[in-house]
Amino acid sequence: MAAPGTVAKLGKLDLANLNGGQKLAVKYFTVALILFGAQILFGLLAGIQYLKPDFLFGVMDFSVNRMVHINAMVVWLLFGFIGSVYWLLEDEAGIPVVGLGLGNVIFWIFTLAVAVVVVVYLLIQVGPGNHSTRWLIIEGREYIEAPRWADIGIVVCVLAFFYNVAATFTKGRYTGVGGVLVLDLIALFGLYLAGMFYTPNISIDQYWWWWVIHLWVEATWEVLVGCLMAYGLMQTLGVRRKIVETWLYIEVALMFGSGILGLGHHYFWIGTPEYWFTIGGFFSALEPIPLVAMVVHSVFDAGAHKMKNTNHPALGWIIVHAFGNFFGAGVWGFMHTLPQINLYTHGTQWTASHGHLAFFGAYVTIVIAFFYLGLQKWRGNVWMSGGLIGAWKWKWAMVLLNVGMIGMVMAMLISGYEQSQIERAIEGSTWSGYFIAQSHPWFVQGNWWRQVFGCVFATGFVLLVWDLLTIGRDEKRPAIAHGELATA
Ligand code: HEM
Ligand code: HEM
Ligand SMILES: [Fe+2]
Repeated sequence: MAAPGTVAKLGKLDLANLNGGQKLAVKYFTVALILFGAQILFGLLAGIQYLKPDFLFGVMDFSVNRMVHINAMVVWLLFGFIGSVYWLLEDEAGIPVVGLGLGNVIFWIFTLAVAVVVVVYLLIQVGPGNHSTRWLIIEGREYIEAPRWADIGIVVCVLAFFYNVAATFTKGRYTGVGGVLVLDLIALFGLYLAGMFYTPNISIDQYWWWWVIHLWVEATWEVLVGCLMAYGLMQTLGVRRKIVETWLYIEVALMFGSGILGLGHHYFWIGTPEYWFTIGGFFSALEPIPLVAMVVHSVFDAGAHKMKNTNHPALGWIIVHAFGNFFGAGVWGFMHTLPQINLYTHGTQWTASHGHLAFFGAYVTIVIAFFYLGLQKWRGNVWMSGGLIGAWKWKWAMVLLNVGMIGMVMAMLISGYEQSQIERAIEGSTWSGYFIAQSHPWFVQGNWWRQVFGCVFATGFVLLVWDLLTIGRDEKRPAIAHGELATA
């Protein structure tokens, strides 16, 4: 790793400790963290409305709270990923970022555009849906609701980002991580275009929309976090590049092998041909396999290095990521992916349970790991291993966030189980069955517990922010050097 330039005092936040790409990365991280806070706030509001439907009615409607909740999530995770890529770019490519000035300008445009889109969502909550609202206010595709002007802006911003990344690797050197990353970014951003077609037919619309949503979270985002994990393991444990890159290739092959046709598990009930039952059921059932490989990879590496590492919080979150990805995506996804089961669970709180655990387990966790990598170097590559001053904060933040999330996920699973049983199995998916299930005590209690654990999660978030602001501040020891890790 590059020496931290003109080192200021250890423990002091100083941008001089960072390379150019990393200075830009910490800007993206900062916005990501703020939007994470917004996501939680709007999640809590939407949760209250499940319990008290009149709450804020006409002021902040459920539809808007829910939309801001999940769109904030997508945007902050993308900001977290972009930041993480800028973070590792110069280390991997071996040269300064090409076109960094452009990257900086784009950061401000991107952030401003996100702010405008959200303000418009909040100000104009009801109205007609026509071509002008599609261009100016909202596009109405769950998770990627940004209006058309912002869509085009996003495309321009990511093209500039892609230029920074590809040009830097091309001019410097392509490592295995770099090569996988560049190819993956082409697919990831290319797929965004599939969410921009206009069609008045809802089945066709859903058909293409899933190309973005599914092929993001179950293919291209997974590969991206595979690259991040590879880099993270090299940084924290000093694992040899040959080992992490071999694992990365295996994971990528398995991921694309199962995830691409796994898309079929969203084509069961939207009017697509029946062969999707077989294709979707079969390939998506294979999707947990690469996720097992990722658990084995991280646990094996940590074990081989006897857990001796340069950054306890970052490695801790990388391991939570490996398990969270496996349980949230792999196990919770597998539970409802066969058409025979999905017939009963489709669109219930069962789905929401999986959605929460998967997004948190696979993506939130790894971005938090990068926040910690970032802060360590930002404070002059300060000690973050055993006996770190104030370590209780990162540990308790991790506990509260995980307990809060698991509690919410279990609560939603109970509500979803009740819906599948009563609304679908017993009442046969009738209109009245829907309402019987919605008022059943198990459903209602599940919603209460989601709210309780949501508050635990929010407390964990506050502690996380506090920790990120203070971690390493009072440390005077430099980080363990990688040479020491290797001989340990
Ligand atoms: C990190 C990866 C993943 C994330 C973030 C994720 C997230 C989500 C989300 C948010 C939904 C709800 C979409 C909606 O609003 O309708 C969903 C649906 C679904 N996911 Fe995943 N998922 C992941 C991986 C998986 C995997 C690996 C499987 C299968 C093994 C799977 C199976 C499903 C199925 C079958 C549905 C449809 C549920 C329904 O019919 O209502 N997911 N996923
Ligand atoms: C304070 C914590 C949170 C609360 C109270 C909360 C609450 C909610 C509520 C009430 C919904 C609407 C569910 C529905 O329409 O049936 C929702 C949707 C969703 N939330 Fe959260 N949430 C929280 C945190 C999170 C986090 C941390 C993530 C992931 C990083 C997340 C991801 C999602 C997703 C993906 C959906 C859409 C699920 C689907 O359509 O199946 N939420 N949340
Ligand atoms: Fe999927």
